[in-house]
Amino acid sequence: MDSFIFLEWLLQRFDRSDPGPAYRRLYQLICRAILDNHVAAGMRLPSSRELAAELGIARNTVLQVYEQLSEEGYVRAGVGRGTYVQDISQDLVEPLSPPQDEAGRLEVRREDVRILSARGQVLVSNLGFSNLQSGAFMPGIPDVREFPLKVWSRIQNRLWRTEPWDLMRYAPAGGYGPVRQAISDYLSSVRAVRSTAHQVIMTTGIHQGIDVAVRLLCEPGDTVWIEEPAYWGIRNLLTVSGLHLVPIRVDDEGILPDGAQYAQPPRLIVVAPSHQYPLGMVMSLTRRRMLLDYARQVSCWIIEDDYDSEFRYGTRPLSSLQGMDESGRVLYAGSFSKMLYPGLRVGFLVVPENLADTFANAVAELYREGNMMNQAVLAEFIREGHLAQHIRRVRRRYAERRLCLIEKIAEHFGQDLEIIGDDAGLHLVLALPDGVDDNLVVRDAFQQGVVARALSNYYLERAHARPGLLLGYAGATLAEIRPAFDTLARVIGAYL
Ligand SMILES: Cc1ncc(COP(=O)(O)O)c(C=O)c1O
Repeated sequence: MDSFIFLEWLLQRFDRSDPGPAYRRLYQLICRAILDNHVAAGMRLPSSRELAAELGIARNTVLQVYEQLSEEGYVRAGVGRGTYVQDISQDLVEPLSPPQDEAGRLEVRREDVRILSARGQVLVSNLGFSNLQSGAFMPGIPDVREFPLKVWSRIQNRLWRTEPWDLMRYAPAGGYGPVRQAISDYLSSVRAVRSTAHQVIMTTGIHQGIDVAVRLLCEPGDTVWIEEPAYWGIRNLLTVSGLHLVPIRVDDEGILPDGAQYAQPPRLIVVAPSHQYPLGMVMSLTRRRMLLDYARQVSCWIIEDDYDSEFRYGTRPLSSLQGMDESGRVLYAGSFSKMLYPGLRVGFLVVPENLADTFANAVAELYREGNMMNQAVLAEFIREGHLAQHIRRVRRRYAERRLCLIEKIAEHFGQDLEIIGDDAGLHLVLALPDGVDDNLVVRDAFQQGVVARALSNYYLERAHARPGLLLGYAGATLAEIRPAFDTLARVIGAYL
């Protein structure tokens, strides 16, 4: 259907005698048309002036409808360049990775999806979350069995015995003071982050940090650059926030925008410079300088996602991007999900000094934070040196597991399959030959009891997607890795 036929389609269905608000009826009609695939992605909607005149309603009403559709991700509005249908129909019919039950996700029935708001529909149609959170080769998962329970509980018991009533109340804006100080000191010595405790805003993790940053700094419809490929969790969060995502390709040195992309400055850039996810490269110094300089020139924000830079095997990490930033454009998002355990839900944002109070107040206002007992235990845990000790210990453990997996890959495939991004982190990527459907490999492996994630699902533009498998090794022992890889190798072998 083209724009002209769509106008006819709307005219036939828009009931002028209906007493309900014209705004609601028009909005629902266009949503329906997009969700039911009556209109194709990329189609230009009739101009607001034309549509208002044809329907006999105010132009402002049409503009409001278009604005809401744009906020919710149905359409993309280019200033003075018309309004275009976004490609969301594909998201609705194609799950992100293997059939949802196989990836351990909750099943979402189509009938239930349809009763949700448009934003809700976009969210549940793109689920990447999995209920499977352990075992070979679930990526992104540390080994929680290595966590020093005794040390943690000793500190916690000590604190409970002090009748810590203040720790049991809602948290003050920004979080528990001593943990903000401990994190600021830790980041300064380990990651060369430049901050005061005041700039450290406690969150429940990187997800929440990015959520609040987007709410405070971006308008719906703003452009955000994300790396291609990127972590689905943050990609989905940005999509549901109504942002226009522009995937930027990465090479060995990290993010590499082309001339046309530079010419259209985004509002926000989200990168993982210390350890690109999922491909694992470190952003070079040249690219870091380039990105910072560009952000300064066009006044956009950069979120530095530093989710697991503690785990490097051999090479030392470059310091943070935030530490090189002279113009206050970088927000540094960190987390204890990988360093300690994901269920802790303690993370932080380091924001420029002039934004610190705003961010602290916004987090308190939006989420009514608490969790101060964990923050207080963490402060002591860091101060007493247990964090550094724990990281050193698990890093050695994960290094053994990484080596074991690399050896198993060589045993089965020699040099035939490329290993990508194995210098750091909790997973590596096993590239598969072009033409292999990595989702089918993942499905078959799952049926044999082995979990992996398909690399192609981490790309926003499927046309550029490379097939491969993300294999997490940190959460599984050597005794678990060996037989699991033998099974996986048999599955892969059937596709080569
Ligand atoms: C690249 C990346 N960023 C952020 C996160 C999530 O961080 P958090 O648990 O702190 O919300 C993950 C989790 O896997 C990740 O892979």
